[in-house]
Amino acid sequence: MALIRQSSIQAVRDACDMLEIVAPYTTLKKTGANYMGRCPFHGEKTASFSVDPVEKVYYCFGCGEGGNVFTFVEKKEGLDFADAVRMLADKYVVRLEFEQSSPGQEERLRRRERTLSLLDQAATYYSRYLRESKSAAAARDYLKRRGFQPEVVERFRLGFSPAGGQSLTQAAAGKGYSPAELLGAGLSSSRNGRAYDRFRGRLMFPFTDHRGRVLGFGARVLDDSKPKYLNSPETDLYHKSSLVFGLGNARQAITRADCVYIVEGYTDVLALSQANIENAVASMGTALTEQQLREISRFTKNVYLAFDADAAGQKAMLRALKLARALALSVRVVQMPAGRDPADLMMMDDGPAAFGKLVAGAPSLLQYQVQAELSGADLDSAEGRSRALDLLKEIIPEAAGSLERDEQLRVIADRLRLSPENVAYLMESTNFARSGSGEEARRRVLSHEEIIERDFLSQCLAHPGEARRYLRDMTDAYFTTAPTRSAFHWVRERLGGQTGSVPATPVSDLDGAGSVLPELLIRSNAGDGSSAGALHELYFRLSEAEISRRINALKKNLTDDDDDSENFRELCRLEAHRREIIELIQAGAYET
Ligand code: GTP
Ligand code: MN
Repeated sequence: MALIRQSSIQAVRDACDMLEIVAPYTTLKKTGANYMGRCPFHGEKTASFSVDPVEKVYYCFGCGEGGNVFTFVEKKEGLDFADAVRMLADKYVVRLEFEQSSPGQEERLRRRERTLSLLDQAATYYSRYLRESKSAAAARDYLKRRGFQPEVVERFRLGFSPAGGQSLTQAAAGKGYSPAELLGAGLSSSRNGRAYDRFRGRLMFPFTDHRGRVLGFGARVLDDSKPKYLNSPETDLYHKSSLVFGLGNARQAITRADCVYIVEGYTDVLALSQANIENAVASMGTALTEQQLREISRFTKNVYLAFDADAAGQKAMLRALKLARALALSVRVVQMPAGRDPADLMMMDDGPAAFGKLVAGAPSLLQYQVQAELSGADLDSAEGRSRALDLLKEIIPEAAGSLERDEQLRVIADRLRLSPENVAYLMESTNFARSGSGEEARRRVLSHEEIIERDFLSQCLAHPGEARRYLRDMTDAYFTTAPTRSAFHWVRERLGGQTGSVPATPVSDLDGAGSVLPELLIRSNAGDGSSAGALHELYFRLSEAEISRRINALKKNLTDDDDDSENFRELCRLEAHRREIIELIQAGAYET
């Protein structure tokens, strides 16, 4: 699996017609240098989605989704980066070249491929054992009793691990795998210098990545012994916090339906799949992590949580509420009947229909949590109401959509019998706003500083002549995040003045400038009639923020008897400079 050459990626990008690629998903109209349409990533009535066909980037002013031609295809087709490049190369007839790698890289790649192959063969071994071995009769009975059909067992490649203790280890050794390789794959453990099978007498659930490659296993006992599940240890390939169970199978169904069900258990995913609900994945227990949500949000922004209604599930949901805001997800809660999980439900005759009903009536996560707090509170006493209010104050600000917040605040005011002053206070403290515009969402997600940094950089692109003067003398210290810092370098190089050598848009580094550039480019030619004055003001705000950070750092190091020191004088100097800048901003006098 060699890497695609950067030059090939560039060639594919150059050959693409961004408008043609977006066309099946939304209708675009030319507005200035950009094209605008309704966003294909979130539901909306007005057009906030903008495409720059020259730079081949898109950005939605409503939901903040942005990227290049490759990320668009990744998200809409449910592909990973390399496959998106391959698909577009096919479509626009570009021949791909691959990277020659160093011997060290080759070796690492080879080892990785061997481990992947070992894990895949282990899955085949376990599944064959489940199908054929006499000793797996109990496991087959167990699956039958729980209502799992052979097709779903096959689709998820379930298996059974021999009870003996060395069967897999020996079979793998017979195929030339070393004890170290087995250990590294998480399949063996070593005791007294000998390798033993890690999984013995358990039902095996392969963990796959979004391309369906086996990375590890979850292994369930057939009876009530503990632990119920034994999973692979953390290895080079398997990381519990980022793995999403079932994503390989569910990926395309998720993009097609543009929504996902997140459940707690592996068996829930199986049961839903068996009922033809294919767009379901499981967190690894209730601990839904940021990485998992990030991974899922590549394929859809519409999330349904079908967690247990117990305390652990509740806690997971509050975390999800916070993460959802940062990732601009819309999260709803499928309220499972007490003590039942989706697998239990699916095994009942009218289960799928009942699940469908629960989905159709699923409240938003915010609505759900407000209800939960209110129903748990003693609303008849003033203390009870005030305690409930304190709890709700934590929840309300986490919610993204302000229209929805508006509604929930009214519910709260009514139920808690709040005075008008109290409601006003609550609204204020939650940064209450009437319209649910994307600009507000952006303001809530990004720090004040980062917003200025981004606005400044996009104004630089809009006014290259003036921008060069500023950029020349600026350093990384003006930027507070890694993406804006690398975007700063990119913008400075691009405006570098060497005519004819405009650097190529970095297309694949999504953690670096790549994640910010689409927004900057789209904003820079959004034609909002901004003058160079806006650039000057932003530059001063940026300088003010930078000096403030230096002042704070100095203050932290200053001790009481430092009155006379070099540090103290420096502090005074900076404070004076900062006041000057603030006065300039207030006077609106930006000419330097
Ligand atoms: P069934 O009881 O067979 O329906 O399995 P389940 O997957 O639904 O189990 P349960 O609802 O008890 O737990 C939900 C998820 O939590 C599981 O799928 C696992 O990811 C995780 N989990 C539960 N018990 C354990 C355990 O003992 N160890 C580990 N590592 N994870 C567990
Ligand atoms: Mn369960």
